[in-house]
Amino acid sequence: EKEGYPHFMLKEIHEQPRALRSTLHGLMSDAMMGEAAEMLADADTVFVTGAGTSYHASEYFALISMRLAERPVIAFIASEYGSYVNAAGPRDVLVAVSQSGETMDTLKALRAFKKRGSRVISLTNAVDSAIARESDVAVYTRAGPEIGVAATKTFLTQTLALTWLAVETATRIGSLRGGEEMELLKELESTPKHVEESISTTSELVKKLAERIAGSKSMYYLSRGVGLPVAREGALKIKEIAYVHAEAYPAGESKHGPIALVEPSFPVVFTIPNDAELQRMLLGNIEEMRARGGVIVGVLPRGSELRERVDLAIEVPRAHWIATALTHTPPLQLLAYHVASLKGLDPDKPRNLAKTVTVE
Ligand code: M6R
Repeated sequence: EKEGYPHFMLKEIHEQPRALRSTLHGLMSDAMMGEAAEMLADADTVFVTGAGTSYHASEYFALISMRLAERPVIAFIASEYGSYVNAAGPRDVLVAVSQSGETMDTLKALRAFKKRGSRVISLTNAVDSAIARESDVAVYTRAGPEIGVAATKTFLTQTLALTWLAVETATRIGSLRGGEEMELLKELESTPKHVEESISTTSELVKKLAERIAGSKSMYYLSRGVGLPVAREGALKIKEIAYVHAEAYPAGESKHGPIALVEPSFPVVFTIPNDAELQRMLLGNIEEMRARGGVIVGVLPRGSELRERVDLAIEVPRAHWIATALTHTPPLQLLAYHVASLKGLDPDKPRNLAKTVTVE
């Protein structure tokens, strides 16, 4: 039931704090989490894969893991497994991420890695799904059923669970400074509260932004570091349900080609993590887009100095950078939702798409 919301997508966006609380509860009580972290800490090479939104969560996991554990983690899009599987062997581990646990591309990747002798950890939202059943260790998000075709609450619960796993793994590897593990896990425990605030404080502003850009045919979503998968997720949402062509790429690439497309009123949405070094670098990218007359939107931590440098600042809670996907994604989901609504589209049933893709 929609519980008074006009669409499942909006309901599910608002359900995110609750979904995160249940997922946290599960993570703390599930012995599989410890087993998964042990397995990752012992692995030679870690690979992580998924499709669509689940790939964005996978990339987020790789970026957080590399920063915390100082080891390479290779993220790839599930349907591209053929280019990666020959590099895998029995000492390696694949993390397979899928909301439904039934996506054929991800299942094929899992099977191909198992054939090479690699072990598999799955993260799904569906107990007893094919991907969970065929993995060696199954970890779950507890987002509850997601009806909207666009993944929303499942992305936030995936990024929470994967960040938790990255912290647990780095702890076992011994790469965190004294007390850092507790500090990071505490940050993750605060995410339901941060997401609640991110939704409630940005909703009105995002509606206005949607009106401003609803006529745009094309947009950029830019970021760096851990903000990049979040930018990709924002772009996928607006393509998927509002049919706006949106491209996400690392902001440093602008000068290598894409900036040629920017002209006055071209919308550029920056995801700006709470990280001084990333902000310093993003400032240059913001300036170069402004110089071309782009409409610059910044999703940024409250109080950031970059607020003065963008045309529209959407402030989100000032949390630790490891929580970027949780704090910064809600306004991007809402933006896609409102643009779709303004265009008279049904965000729950985008054309040409199925909720779960069980064909190759
Ligand atoms: O069930 P899965 O997480 O494996 O699904 C993967 C993708 O098909 C899915 O995330 C898709 O990209 C969503 N519709 C995005 O909103």
